[in-house]
Amino acid sequence: MNESGIALVTGAGRGLGRATARALAERGHRVIVAARDVQDATAVVDEITAGGGEALPLALDVADLDGILQARDAALAAIAEKWPGSSIEVLVNNAGVGLFAPIGEVTGEEFDRTFAVNVRGPLFVIQAFLPHLSEGARIVNISSSLSRHVSPATSVYAASKAAIEALSRSLASELGKRGIRINTIAPGPTATDFNGGAMRDNVELRHGLGQQTALGRVGEPEEIAHAVAAFVSSDLRWVTGERIEVSGGVLL
Ligand SMILES: NC(=O)c1ccc[n+]([C@@H]2O[C@H](COP(=O)([O-])OP(=O)(O)OC[C@H]3O[C@@H](n4cnc5c(N)ncnc54)[C@H](OP(=O)(O)O)[C@@H]3O)[C@@H](O)[C@H]2O)c1
Repeated sequence: MNESGIALVTGAGRGLGRATARALAERGHRVIVAARDVQDATAVVDEITAGGGEALPLALDVADLDGILQARDAALAAIAEKWPGSSIEVLVNNAGVGLFAPIGEVTGEEFDRTFAVNVRGPLFVIQAFLPHLSEGARIVNISSSLSRHVSPATSVYAASKAAIEALSRSLASELGKRGIRINTIAPGPTATDFNGGAMRDNVELRHGLGQQTALGRVGEPEEIAHAVAAFVSSDLRWVTGERIEVSGGVLL
């Protein structure tokens, strides 16, 4: 299995997606950095290139079904031009949005938006790219530790992440005959812009979460990114349909 094949990461302009794109590039993957704003993607491509890696930017809004198909076509054209003969071997569905609201305040629009990005997006990104994935490709969907434990006002977000886990398991069965393995990484609280940057900037919250975590702190984006990179490596080639939590042991 070629571990230096092309990897596509969604939501890769910042946060966990950016760290994952960089980690995969460090391990030799050619990376398609997909972000809603192509300027964000280009900035990450520049970082990877400056580090000696290879990457291409791609505009991709996973909530836009027609846009996913256009992005797919643009990605294939860019691959044919820059990396002819190569196929996509790794797909990381990282793009996601949080929703922090008690039930009385959740609107239908917010519910639909959360599921459009966190569940519908990954499904249709996989569907669009499936014919172009190599035999033995690896897909990683990013879930959350909140599908296992409860935190206040996160019911809709947690449900969306539970849905992506169920979807991953079913697709692992459906796509296994092509040697494609699909797994879920469930991060715990991690210091990014997520939830308004609270896990990075709110000292009190960080301390409280640290006290609830076996390893005593919140995670850093690189710690999730390297877990994703490990998951797609051939060392874990016999693992599919699984969920691995990467949380330092939050609320065990
Ligand atoms: N940080 C945590 O504590 C934590 C914990 C568990 C799970 N997660 C999950 O980890 C993933 C990454 O989160 P993060 O921590 O990196 O959060 P973040 O810093 O808020 O980044 C979210 C990323 O998702 C992208 N995104 C949002 N809507 C999108 C859309 N419609 N199309 C394409 N991209 C879209 C954002 O792009 P823009 O820059 O264009 O907005 C951004 O790149 C998410 O799935 C999140 O649910 C995070």
